[in-house]
Amino acid sequence: MKGLIVLFSFCGFIFATENNVCISFGDYYNDMENNPNCYFNPEADLDVTRIISRNGYPVEAHSALTVDDFMLTLFRIPHGKVPRQGYTPTPVLLQPGMGLNSVSYVDRGNTSLAFLLADAGFDVWLGNFRGSQYSQVHLFLKSDSIAYWNFSFHELGIYDIPAQISLINEVTGQEGNILYLGYSMGNTAGYVYNTIFPEQASKYIKVFINLAPVIYTDNIKSVFKYFTFLWEWAQFLTDGNAFHKDLLKRDRVSTEIMKRICLPYPIQMKLCWLGIMLLTGFDVDQMDPETLPVTTIQHTDSIPAKMVTHFIQGISSHGFYHFNYGVEENIKLYGSETPPPYNLSTVKVPVYIIYGNNDWLSTEQDVLRLYADLPEAAKQHGIYKVNWTHFTHTDFLLAKDAKTLIYDHLIKFLENFNSL
Ligand SMILES: *[C@@H]1O[C@H](CO)[C@@H](O)[C@H](O)[C@H]1NC(C)=O
Ligand SMILES: *[C@@H]1O[C@H](CO)[C@@H](O)[C@H](O)[C@H]1NC(C)=O
Ligand SMILES: *[C@@H]1O[C@H](CO)[C@@H](O)[C@H](O)[C@H]1NC(C)=O
Ligand SMILES: *[C@@H]1O[C@H](CO)[C@@H](O)[C@H](O)[C@H]1NC(C)=O
Repeated sequence: MKGLIVLFSFCGFIFATENNVCISFGDYYNDMENNPNCYFNPEADLDVTRIISRNGYPVEAHSALTVDDFMLTLFRIPHGKVPRQGYTPTPVLLQPGMGLNSVSYVDRGNTSLAFLLADAGFDVWLGNFRGSQYSQVHLFLKSDSIAYWNFSFHELGIYDIPAQISLINEVTGQEGNILYLGYSMGNTAGYVYNTIFPEQASKYIKVFINLAPVIYTDNIKSVFKYFTFLWEWAQFLTDGNAFHKDLLKRDRVSTEIMKRICLPYPIQMKLCWLGIMLLTGFDVDQMDPETLPVTTIQHTDSIPAKMVTHFIQGISSHGFYHFNYGVEENIKLYGSETPPPYNLSTVKVPVYIIYGNNDWLSTEQDVLRLYADLPEAAKQHGIYKVNWTHFTHTDFLLAKDAKTLIYDHLIKFLENFNSL
């Protein structure tokens, strides 16, 4: 037994000394093991709570039960490295995009948005939607069943968000003070919530920040747009089963394979990101050599097939509609042959939209259309374009200069809402 432990710690020791991160792309090709610009960062293999503690912040895990019996995990960073005295911090809820979870707000070291917010005096809550790595439990359904994966951003908006919000109200003892921040699909779900429960939303949420919202998709530049027909074919050619479940499952094996393919050298990282960039936009100058080995591995989580179908329906319907189940089901569910729109003019919470100039999934035209459709009362904060010509969809999380290009601005904006 003792021998085993010694052996394990020895292997751990060897593993732990393998440098996997360098501060420039050039350093990766320059004797990584002995190069002083390279070091070992274990965060590609750590879970959210360990990453948060490792960075010196307090962390709590909370569970919220949805009315349709999913158990959602929320992580909380109640304060910064130095707790502040004499005031109640305002809760800010960070919601991830599709195929992501809350790790996407803590995995870029000291320039992670969650840490910057905690140090700025906020009570940071990190959401994990149903089906993602930290929110897999359903009280009755197995995670390999079709009934389990029967959700799109619609269900996140009507079930997950209300459950998360009531948990935050309960734990903080504050009501009506939540700052909601979504990235990408986190906003799509946010608009479902805000249009279906406008009264509840305006009671609990003070401001709805949209980073790279994907609502209208008429103008997406993503190559994806030209291949949506393949999606129809694939469903038709297979029995359709796989298309009612999860498209991307992250486990130990897939993580190992990804590491072999996408790490350790920059040429591999760039090739792996090429596929993503064809969907989201190109900004090679903002690729961050120091965080990519961690984010490349961490930024993968479940992609529910039904959610992809719902997004594709939006491209062909040129609008923001409920899920289209086909005429017969639509009549049963909605009382009309076609699905009804989510009525954006019902939004009551003030919105602040932030978008990038070179975002292929959340283009300027589509974002301006979203803004135009909101009622005046929701538009008091205006709209903000990141000051970087090539700023893409993924740059909101990954850009080398994300802190100076966007997070600093965002925190300054949010500080107006903190009851300091
Ligand atoms: C992050 O840490 C690095 C290295 O310790 C330091 O040089 C940098 O100034 C820090 N950045 C912030 C925003 O704290
Ligand atoms: C999926 O959800 C829809 C709408 O809630 C429902 O009509 C349908 O029966 C469900 N399908 C399965 C397989 O659970
Ligand atoms: C959308 O909501 C607005 C404001 O509540 C209402 O006046 C309008 O009739 C609604 N539109 C539709 C199509 O339901
Ligand atoms: C945008 O960035 C450029 C270059 O970094 C700078 O010169 C300019 O003042 C910035 N514009 C605004 C509006 O902040």
